[in-house]
Amino acid sequence: MVSEIRRWLTDRKETAVLVSEVPAFQEYWYPVAYSVDVVQVPRPVRVLGENYVIWRGRAGAVGAAVDECPHRGARLSQGWIEDGDLVCGYHGWAFAPSGACTRIPQNDPDAPIPPRARTLSVLVEERYGLVWICPGMPRAGIPDLPEADDPRFVLIHEIMEVWRASAPRVIDNALDVSHLAWTHRNTIGDSTNPRMNNLVVQRDGHRLRCRVSYASRLTAEQRRNTGLSGDITTRVTNSELVQPFVFRDVMEYENGLRHVLLKTATPVDDTHTLFCQFIARNDNPDQEKTAAIIALDRKIQSEDRVLLEQIRPEFPLQMQTEMHTRSDRCRWSTAESWPSWPAKPRGYHRMAPGPDRSPTPPAPPVEPARRRLRRQDDLPRPLRGTRGR
Ligand code: FES
Ligand SMILES: [Fe+2]
Repeated sequence: MVSEIRRWLTDRKETAVLVSEVPAFQEYWYPVAYSVDVVQVPRPVRVLGENYVIWRGRAGAVGAAVDECPHRGARLSQGWIEDGDLVCGYHGWAFAPSGACTRIPQNDPDAPIPPRARTLSVLVEERYGLVWICPGMPRAGIPDLPEADDPRFVLIHEIMEVWRASAPRVIDNALDVSHLAWTHRNTIGDSTNPRMNNLVVQRDGHRLRCRVSYASRLTAEQRRNTGLSGDITTRVTNSELVQPFVFRDVMEYENGLRHVLLKTATPVDDTHTLFCQFIARNDNPDQEKTAAIIALDRKIQSEDRVLLEQIRPEFPLQMQTEMHTRSDRCRWSTAESWPSWPAKPRGYHRMAPGPDRSPTPPAPPVEPARRRLRRQDDLPRPLRGTRGR
């Protein structure tokens, strides 16, 4: 019996993959902060096990670099910004957003600065009110999320928090409609009617689309948020895995309401994920309704989080490692696509520094469209307590 348990556990680990074992994941863009939170103060962020620093420098452009000073390795995020340059707090060297060192205060002012004295800059851009970085050379752009740019929709930021769960498990949960009736039985799930109807799954390479309808419970808060009446509604979900860790779901309600759920799972490391959720709504909710929508969506996600944080971080590569039924068809397709990602051998955990790169030409600072862009910090003070960290 003991050897059987050991074999079972060994099989689980050896037929699964961690995010650090898939080099291709370094070649995508990941959101790391809200744009409005990136100011003229260096901010540490972490992606795929590496530390980076981001900051807002000259003309409002955001800079990003490996969080390690080329002089003695101090964390640049412990420094400060001066005249748009990042100043290391250890010996005061200053660096432009391009990575070039602009000052070594101990040297004579006219002494040349060694060309090797530069930070390792990282690609950074702003979109949808978020700061995105790409640790490697991007194989795809920041994903297009049509409703997030559509003036008929209002964009609302709801959640940005680190979960003690792996990014594949977080995205797997987003694609998994069959859990709604159970995990969310106290909010929107109807555990007396867990059947899913008209499930259609389409896969195009790594891009995955699922359409399904199911019963969703209407609590008093959900009635207020949707404008529907009764105890149960039929909700149609059109979900899409846009990139490995970017999820979009157009939820259609019977009254024409569209609640578009946008989720990103930035792999902080093998066991932690920066989970970000924002939504686009076509009903232009007022401030009070926006607060109620955010509160309910946060409650729903906390129901997922409590389960996901207890699931092992490895993502199974073989179908037979875990069990699947017909209602898990969306999940089958994700699992089927994963083995095509070339994985590094076990034991690889540290990303080798990439070649020195200049950042993309500084994009004009993205001024969040204040009329359309809302987040919980914009809400009246008593609601701020709902923001978890
Ligand atoms: S370690 Fe950064 S200036 Fe010396
Ligand atoms: Fe969920």
